[in-house]
Amino acid sequence: MVDKIVNLVKDVYFTGVFDPHIRTFDIIMKTANGSSYNSYVIRGSEGVAVMDTVKKEFSEEFFTKIEAVCDYSEIKFIVLHHLEPDHSGALLELMDKAPQAKLIISGRAVMMLKALLKQDVEFEIANTGKIISLGDKTIEFLSTPFLHWPDTMSSYLHEDKILFSGDVFGSHYYDERIFNDKVGDFNYAFSYYYEHIMRPFKQFVMQALKLYKKFEIDMIAPLHGPVLRENPQQYIDKYDQWSNNTQNKKAILGDKIISIFYMSSYGNTEKMAKKIYEGVDSIEGIRPSMYDLGSLDERNMIDLLEESDGIIIGTPTINGDAVKPAWDLLACMAYIENKNKTGGVFGSYGWTGEGTEMIQGRMRSLKFRLPLDPLRIKLIPNETELLDSYNFGIEFAEILMGKMVEMEL
Ligand code: FEO
Repeated sequence: MVDKIVNLVKDVYFTGVFDPHIRTFDIIMKTANGSSYNSYVIRGSEGVAVMDTVKKEFSEEFFTKIEAVCDYSEIKFIVLHHLEPDHSGALLELMDKAPQAKLIISGRAVMMLKALLKQDVEFEIANTGKIISLGDKTIEFLSTPFLHWPDTMSSYLHEDKILFSGDVFGSHYYDERIFNDKVGDFNYAFSYYYEHIMRPFKQFVMQALKLYKKFEIDMIAPLHGPVLRENPQQYIDKYDQWSNNTQNKKAILGDKIISIFYMSSYGNTEKMAKKIYEGVDSIEGIRPSMYDLGSLDERNMIDLLEESDGIIIGTPTINGDAVKPAWDLLACMAYIENKNKTGGVFGSYGWTGEGTEMIQGRMRSLKFRLPLDPLRIKLIPNETELLDSYNFGIEFAEILMGKMVEMEL
């Protein structure tokens, strides 16, 4: 039994479910106060559209809600904005119950649909500009890929000016009062969600915002967390600001930014770092900085990696490996757009010294441009080796400024 079905506006219903106990989402996100899997039903004069389903384990509650607002025979369209299982978990069962309904997915979802359902189903593709009609309700689709999977799309209900945004503008935040003007303070959840889900795809966020601009938006209905009906523009503005902040910061600073991150157990790798810094600093147009990895938290690492054009990592080799903070730094690359960054590696070692190669290998697989071999020095760098470090900095900076070199592919 559902106590009461909530209307977003007349004839648009919230049919999502709540998951107050989830504590980790997609492995990488902590969900301290749970989440919701939002679904909506739109009733028009000529049929009904179901906008997304829910996670499979919540199917029963979902179907109770659907049955409270429509008969399965009325469903004309099932729209899936994004195929991740938290939204497609009840799809097959819904298609069984409403076999006449047309499934609408994005073009990029086609391959995924088959892989996910393990069977063939009929569907229709919606690209930007496609319109479907429920008589007195008109839904227009917008292609907003990579937010958060390649298949994600959004849609706009013209008559009620509601944007169904998929994962965009979502929050993992459980509150059954649903609307942003009624729920508790979810600012943290909203920005945390952006940081972990949207930030690596800023270019795609900006493209989506351009598409949304075409519409007057009275309400945003995302796939997780509160429905944004009070001042929805503030959330659009936040996405706009967050997605542009690196470019804005770079525009203010002007120069190319090189960050030298290092960790040193006996001060030898640090000595190399200082000389590399001096070498980098001698080149016009570069703004270098040095950071002791032991004193950076993850948030700082992400911000610094994002704004840096060149990233040089210094690690000793301990027990045949690079040190953990160096690996932690590279793990942060998952949260940023890492294209077009140039990388370099250096470090002092006692016995075998494979830590630098290991970091270089990881950077290679992360698609860094790596013009120089790792610079390794055994134990305490002597004057010649410090000069090598200085020259490494110069060479790296010159390459970043455009000097042509041959690189291994
Ligand atoms: Fe809410 Fe990307 O799934």
